[in-house]
Amino acid sequence: MDYQAFVDEQVASIQESVGDGLAINALSGGVDSSVVTAIGHRALGERLKTVFVDSALMREGEPQQVVKIFADMGIPVEIIDARADFLDALEGLTDPEEKRNAVTFTFYKTVFGKLVRESGATHLLHGTILTDIEETVDGIKRQHNILEQLGIDPKEEYGYHVLEPLKTLRKDGVREVARILDFSPEVSERIPFPGPALATRVVGEVTAERLDTVRKATVIVEEELADTDAFQYMAILLNDKATGIRDGRREFGQIIVVRCLDSVDARTATSVDLPWEKLHKICERITAIPDVNRCLYDFTPKPPATIEYI
Ligand code: XMP
Repeated sequence: MDYQAFVDEQVASIQESVGDGLAINALSGGVDSSVVTAIGHRALGERLKTVFVDSALMREGEPQQVVKIFADMGIPVEIIDARADFLDALEGLTDPEEKRNAVTFTFYKTVFGKLVRESGATHLLHGTILTDIEETVDGIKRQHNILEQLGIDPKEEYGYHVLEPLKTLRKDGVREVARILDFSPEVSERIPFPGPALATRVVGEVTAERLDTVRKATVIVEEELADTDAFQYMAILLNDKATGIRDGRREFGQIIVVRCLDSVDARTATSVDLPWEKLHKICERITAIPDVNRCLYDFTPKPPATIEYI
């Protein structure tokens, strides 16, 4: 496939669809939304407003890193501080599906839906890819009617259009386009990170403190495993506690699980046989996090496990 021609076609198509109107899109920093942002900006320049929603669920420094990558490309991205909205919505929830729904609802309806309505945008750019559509048809993933998820009733708010420039590509094609658009490997080869972000890696209630613990562990795991070439690696905070000893005193502390997986398409996955030396190093660093006194390596394949914990 001629990916350069693909980019040119999508730019022309967005220009034709939006005309003199305004468009808006949400950037997560993942490869799909990054490519949509770059193509959309090429097509519309300042008539595309790009926002990064800071949900409190992101990794260490992630909002600032994403904004900087785009600032360096001449593309302004506005950070929307919605941390309190997400933490309020997640308060007291422990059921995995309820937590996922709270994140989806807060993102689409409370935060982004409001921005869309207030922006005067006529068009939304969305990073749907072919796999998303196929998985919906197969009943694996619930495909979103984007407008409905944004809390916008098309009958009442007539005039919004959703544009999905990547809907004919799979992930490998999107990565090719990212390379053509001169994104660094930091973006084009980025490991998958789920939409509900660190909420999928906190078992039990998601609070600011518990997010802080899993965020610190995530930094360590990502640093230590960056050279593995694995499909995905992560840290998870369990909802259990265990007895340990710190500075000669008994401590009832937190438990972090480390996962490192090989996979082609995330439908199945196997754990990587990490060297013991590496595991010891990770364990040493993770148990230096305040209140964490155990570190476990989960080598369960998918199935029967899933990749994330919720
Ligand atoms: P599971 O945990 O279902 O994950 O084995 C399979 C792959 O999908 C990612 N994942 C998500 N991605 N929104 C996303 O965009 C989600 O809600 C979501 N849940 C899981 C996960 O990181 C893995 O790569």
